Amino acid sequence: MDLITSLTEMRAFSRRTRSGGKKLALVPTMGALHKGHLSLVGRAIEECDAVVVSVFVNPTQFSVEEDLARYPRDLAGDLVTLRPLRVDVVFSPSAVDMYPKEFQTFVEPGAAAVPLEGVCRPGHFRGVATVVLKLFNIVDPDVAYFGQKDFQQTLVVRRLIEDLNLAVKLIVCPIAREPDGLATSSRNAYLSASERQAASVLHRSLRRAEELFRAGETKAARISEEMHKVLATEPRAKVEYVAMVEPARLQPIDLVTPGSVALVAARIGAVRLIDNTVLGSPGGHDDGRRTGGGKR
Ligand code: PAJ
Repeated sequence: MDLITSLTEMRAFSRRTRSGGKKLALVPTMGALHKGHLSLVGRAIEECDAVVVSVFVNPTQFSVEEDLARYPRDLAGDLVTLRPLRVDVVFSPSAVDMYPKEFQTFVEPGAAAVPLEGVCRPGHFRGVATVVLKLFNIVDPDVAYFGQKDFQQTLVVRRLIEDLNLAVKLIVCPIAREPDGLATSSRNAYLSASERQAASVLHRSLRRAEELFRAGETKAARISEEMHKVLATEPRAKVEYVAMVEPARLQPIDLVTPGSVALVAARIGAVRLIDNTVLGSPGGHDDGRRTGGGKR
């Protein structure tokens, strides 16, 4: 496994690999790797001939009030985690190479970036779309792996690929969870012991939504209300949104059908957590084998 920090070397590796007819995977991450990231890496190893994991804490997707400076960074630990796996390259460019001082061109995502996280984190998806396009251009992968954990991000990336005619196949992988259901996240490390216990309420609220849906409830308002009731049992949880939406454009719906998505965002103390579930699918995720092309 090689650590590459230079953009030129990354391009050269990619060119060599692809000209040898190998199928190249990219797993974009911001590091501080956990089992959610590793599930993406495992899937990439299974399906591709060469795997690049990028580790780059992207400054343009953090707002001024957000935790860029505090975001966990542990490249040495990430290398130890990845070394036993069949990963070919860890690509970890510097911020100044990615965003030299004359940098001025951004990708402006459209409707997919507007609701939910777009409201709570203005400018976030502009930064995500910009860095993802840059990573795609530098690494030039055949396939890119993203997690359903960031459901809206997968829609923004799918639009980016379609709208800008990128020759990258998008694979969305299921949400990896801790034993109590909390979605694994780099931000979980910020939770105190009691906050950590409280944090499982997000998943419990989603389980309630699934349970109601399985029992035949179709009214989105009813399901949201019940999710709020579960969230209200945890005084430490400050809810930012509960939403029932259709999966292609994240439009709010009145009636849920199989494939509708329940999403939740809440703060536990100072830590902002998000989670979601696709209703009516085993384990609350789609088959995970869906690819880009907007054929959802
Ligand atoms: P990061 O939060 O590090 O996540 C990297 C990838 O891992 C994302 O596709 C995310 O959805 C996935 N992931 C995180 N937690 C997961 C979990 N519990 N189960 C499954 N997948 C999970 O998302 C980003 O970084 C950045 O926005 C990035 C795409 C790298 C652009 O900077």
